[in-house]
Amino acid sequence: MPTRPPLVLGIETSCDDTACAVVDGKGRVLASAVSSQLAVHRPYGGVVPEIASREHLSNWLPVAAEALERAGVELAHVDVVAATRGPGLVGSLLVGLSLGRAMAWSLDKPFFAVHHLEGHLYSPFLSDGEEAAEAPPERFLGLVVSGGHTTLFEAVDGGIRTLAETRDDAMGEVFDKVGKRLGLPYPQGPEVDALAERGDESAVRFAVPRMSDGSLDFSYSGLKSEALRAIEGLEAAGVATDLAAVDDPPVGVLDVLAGFRRAAVTQLLDRLDRVRREQEISLLAVSGGAAANRLLRRRLVPWAAEHAIPLRLVPMRYAADNAAMIAHAALLRLRRGATDDPLAATAASRIPLATG
Ligand code: KG4
Ligand code: ZN
Repeated sequence: MPTRPPLVLGIETSCDDTACAVVDGKGRVLASAVSSQLAVHRPYGGVVPEIASREHLSNWLPVAAEALERAGVELAHVDVVAATRGPGLVGSLLVGLSLGRAMAWSLDKPFFAVHHLEGHLYSPFLSDGEEAAEAPPERFLGLVVSGGHTTLFEAVDGGIRTLAETRDDAMGEVFDKVGKRLGLPYPQGPEVDALAERGDESAVRFAVPRMSDGSLDFSYSGLKSEALRAIEGLEAAGVATDLAAVDDPPVGVLDVLAGFRRAAVTQLLDRLDRVRREQEISLLAVSGGAAANRLLRRRLVPWAAEHAIPLRLVPMRYAADNAAMIAHAALLRLRRGATDDPLAATAASRIPLATG
């Protein structure tokens, strides 16, 4: 290992984004390149796994070249290689993981097979600027909200424990499904959020689900069904609900989306508040694609301030899937001194985030 801070090359291909990033030993992102496959999958209304893995293969070289060039780094200068091992689409994961394993082995560099959620969990601590990244504290609460997960983690001394997770759909997923019903293109979450900004969130009331057994777990499928029923009701009343066919979305639709978003976000705040009443939260880190949600970000800030809880929101650039978070998670593990065997690492579609 050189005496200068190590350069970590990260690779993320768990779903439909081909991503490569270079993060330096201080946790600063030197370059983060993401090639989206959205246009290729759009005609099918969702991600087609076989197409995704083929696209990763053809996108990889230009994406890697872009990341290295923007970072001003040659492959030979990379000190550590990291790639996502899961969860995700196995064919997609295999492309990035195999590339990472081959690179680490041929360059004779340390290798890390990183859990996708570990990447998200620590992403609020990435440095997007000149200053060194803040080291995650020994203990913190992490909320990961994405298209596949809605999970509350407790990180203690590098170990990770799941406090609560969704029992059905993930938050981003229901934003996508409600948006799809309105004729919006995938991923619908950002647009549903933008449209909700224009609605009256008190006009249509949605229930905030709680588990009957008192658990902290989340549930989003009931809320999704309620929103879909409300849209059907509008349609039956003659309101235009195919937003692809109208210039200006009807007020009724905007109000449904605003009410839906309020309930979706309130559920997260409800669980956080219950944790707060039961234990001291030394710091809250919020990440994942749906952590870009405007209402969530707006409501978290005063809530954390009111209860004097230090809050780290993932920078908007690193909310959605990216390889900087994978490189950064590897860097944190490198500091703890463990590496993975590039010849033994395997990809898996479903894997729990192991506690260390
Ligand atoms: O983390 P991510 O890029 O991929 C997964 O690991 O799932 O998250 C993507 C998800 C999609 O479901 C997308 O619609 C959702 O995050 N999303 C949002 C917003 N921006 C992205 N959901 C709600 N509000 C947003 N502003
Ligand atoms: Zn993700």
